[in-house]
Amino acid sequence: MRKPIIAGNWKMHNTIAEGMKLIRGLIPLVKGVKDVDIVVCPTATALAVVTSTLRGKNIQVGAQNVHWEKDGAYTGEIAAPMLKEIGVKYAIVGHSERRQYFGETDEGVNKRARAAFAAGITPIICVGESLATREKGTYLRFVARQVRLATNGFQPEEAAKLVLAYEPVWAIGTGKTATFEQAEEVCAHIRQTITRLFGAAAGDKIRIQYGGSVKTATIRGLMEKPDVDGVLVGGAALKAVDFSQIVKFQ
Ligand code: 13P
Repeated sequence: MRKPIIAGNWKMHNTIAEGMKLIRGLIPLVKGVKDVDIVVCPTATALAVVTSTLRGKNIQVGAQNVHWEKDGAYTGEIAAPMLKEIGVKYAIVGHSERRQYFGETDEGVNKRARAAFAAGITPIICVGESLATREKGTYLRFVARQVRLATNGFQPEEAAKLVLAYEPVWAIGTGKTATFEQAEEVCAHIRQTITRLFGAAAGDKIRIQYGGSVKTATIRGLMEKPDVDGVLVGGAALKAVDFSQIVKFQ
């Protein structure tokens, strides 16, 4: 059985003060939830204080990106050991906004994921097609290719521990959630791709999230799907009550 993983990607929202207010609201609302991995991904400035506030609580912290080198002349980037130092457990890599606005490539996504993993941080690798690719009908092949390139070089037992997030670009921030069937179709295809590349054990164990306009009204239907093991939430993760209801599939 795969443990569900529900992560909130704050994107470039929340100052430290706002983030702390959100966290303080969230802690009591999800107290006692044990059967779900709960993750919040604040901006870089808030990572250290949010992580220390959540120490010993049932909420883990993820970064929104991570660099592939351990250190060096890479202005503006953050290395995996630096995240590890402050207690960060996850790192989103290859988010479509990074690919779209900051020129991140499949190769770079793979390098970031491998560096995170090597430092003991679980990468949440994002994949997903644009509206044009969806309409062309080639989205399954497109997403499978992104998965193959992002997971290049991992051993099967390592691949089993990754988290993949299927985030169709046309559903992000648009209010247009994929239907439960659309989410399941691609998440199942991602699992088949992992099985083909790394074997049945890895395919069975790897956790696959859906992301894109997830809200309280859609969480239950998504979580009922056999290949959807969790969600990556944007907008609805900025409100403690909404995010707590999503965490509890309410
Ligand atoms: P929204 O939930 O705001 O559509 O964002 C989804 C997302 O990109 C999470 O990483």
